[in-house]
Amino acid sequence: MSFTPSQLALLKLLGDGNCHSGSELGAALGITRSAIWKQINHLIESGIPIKRISHQGYQLPNPLVLLDKEKIIGNLGLAQRLNPFNLHLFTTIDSTNRYLKELPLSNSVEICCAEIQTQGRGRFGRHWHSPFGENIYCSSRWTLNYDLTKLSGLSLVTSLAILTTLNEFNISSNIKIKWPNDILWNDKKLCGSLIEILAESNGTIQIIIGIGLNVNTDTRNTPLPDKPWCSLYEITQHHFDRNLLIAKLIVNLERYLTRFIDHELNCFMEEWNQYDYLFGKKISVTQSANTLSGIACGINASGQLILQDESGRKHFLSSGDTSLQEKL
Ligand code: BTN
Repeated sequence: MSFTPSQLALLKLLGDGNCHSGSELGAALGITRSAIWKQINHLIESGIPIKRISHQGYQLPNPLVLLDKEKIIGNLGLAQRLNPFNLHLFTTIDSTNRYLKELPLSNSVEICCAEIQTQGRGRFGRHWHSPFGENIYCSSRWTLNYDLTKLSGLSLVTSLAILTTLNEFNISSNIKIKWPNDILWNDKKLCGSLIEILAESNGTIQIIIGIGLNVNTDTRNTPLPDKPWCSLYEITQHHFDRNLLIAKLIVNLERYLTRFIDHELNCFMEEWNQYDYLFGKKISVTQSANTLSGIACGINASGQLILQDESGRKHFLSSGDTSLQEKL
């Protein structure tokens, strides 16, 4: 899917959620009503849910604020940042993680965001649903001089940085983290992160942190077949400006990563325990061909999940897909 500058300009005008007549839009873009009609057709065929209202014009069902480089950079407060940043914004991309993986090495933090991902990727090779203009698909790449073996708590720290961001917007006190990095509200998935680590020949490592945060999708009315999901809109009944959220996410990620590198996971334990969704629950953890069941007993200082099986034996798990067996 690709949009011309006039199609993007149309989306910006329709983004206020009001009805606009063809002649008004034509005058704003300096093109004829029939040219507007054609452009609107293209947008509708690309999946943008523009309504045609007879004798009145065109309207989007919900307000839409497109991603805006200047707004994001403005909110990042670049002067106060520890690292230099580059921001890559796309209308459409296959996957923001994939883009950063193939971007040549640099000394800056590289950030990539898109309005839509055509091949958004989740953990365990799953698909990440990424509809146009509604949610956040944001990856950032950090180049570090750090011991690879100490990175096991990274996904937990990432989740804490995301949760801190959500708390800054007073979203809900009911948001929890399901080890290692699912963010849930009322048992439904609000956000996920996909972390990819690349070791370079010069001894540095690159960490790519991809965040998918459901922001403005009306998730109650658009259920997904495979799993229950929710959005900030479902929780609050408000639409959010993703530009502000993205900037706050990056700022908090930088803060949390810096603390993690300086102090490892120890200084995050208390915070983790406060938001641990699985704690005390009976769960199953699937690791490739194996499934283990037991009670989740929190994490250890390496970020491993502590699982106590029926015989009382404790297992320390570094990865896996967790699910609840039943509510205790
Ligand atoms: C998961 O919970 O399975 C992780 C989902 C991660 C999705 C994000 S969206 C931005 C980035 N690009 C991708 O292709 N995936 C991550």
